Amino acid sequence: MPEKEKRIICRCEEIAEQDIRNAVREGYTTIKGIKRRTRAGMGLCQGRTCASLIRDIISEMTGIPKGQIEEDTPRFPAFSVKLADLARDFDRNEVIPDNVTGR
Ligand code: FES
Repeated sequence: MPEKEKRIICRCEEIAEQDIRNAVREGYTTIKGIKRRTRAGMGLCQGRTCASLIRDIISEMTGIPKGQIEEDTPRFPAFSVKLADLARDFDRNEVIPDNVTGR
């Protein structure tokens, strides 16, 4: 395997360039399709880091101009939140009406 294909494209999901190229060879030519096939783009950064690299590979292998490669549906980045942060400023009466709690 060429050294280039061992290169990690999606650091969050640890997906190598070879995996992306194999998916393109199988016919996946959109970022969303590559994501579904390989999990590249499903990590913590939600493709912020790897989507442009995936687009470059698809374009190089298929000849499709980068601007014509279908985008993935953007998602909000996931991050952990402490329960204490969620509970801070929590007004129970605002969130849970009395008729729901039975008070
Ligand atoms: S690098 Fe691919 S999802 Fe973060």
